[in-house]
Amino acid sequence: MSRTDEPTDPATPGLGRRPLLQGCLAGGAALVGLGVVSACGGPQTTPTVPSPGPLASLNDVPVGGTVVVNSPNGAPVALVRPNAGTVVAHSAICTHQGCSVAPAGATLSCPCHGSVFDAATGAVQQGPADRPLPAIAVQVQGQSVVVT
Ligand code: FES
Repeated sequence: MSRTDEPTDPATPGLGRRPLLQGCLAGGAALVGLGVVSACGGPQTTPTVPSPGPLASLNDVPVGGTVVVNSPNGAPVALVRPNAGTVVAHSAICTHQGCSVAPAGATLSCPCHGSVFDAATGAVQQGPADRPLPAIAVQVQGQSVVVT
């Protein structure tokens, strides 16, 4: 693969993956000491599970649509509203290597390596991810979507 067609990391546009990996190898030990390692496979700084409480306004989730929101503790959550009174939620962190997934029609797609998940169920439709997006328990309470 030539340098020009090397895939880029969406978190660092313009940089290929190699510099990020080299940075991980060189700085991994220092980052582990600070408790701040994510792209290198260690502890993540972004929480994967939202804290209980209000997550979004029901009006922010279109009927038949999917949105990704950040919970108050920073965990990204995909909200799907199959009908007016129902919202289901999944972690929006890809189970392959931890990138954030984004809505794409009836699916959630990962920009890093191309995994695709069913937005309604979190099931893997296309790898390399081989585990579903974890479900998150939510309820509609009035005009709010609340993590229970
Ligand atoms: S991190 Fe999502 S496909 Fe690799």
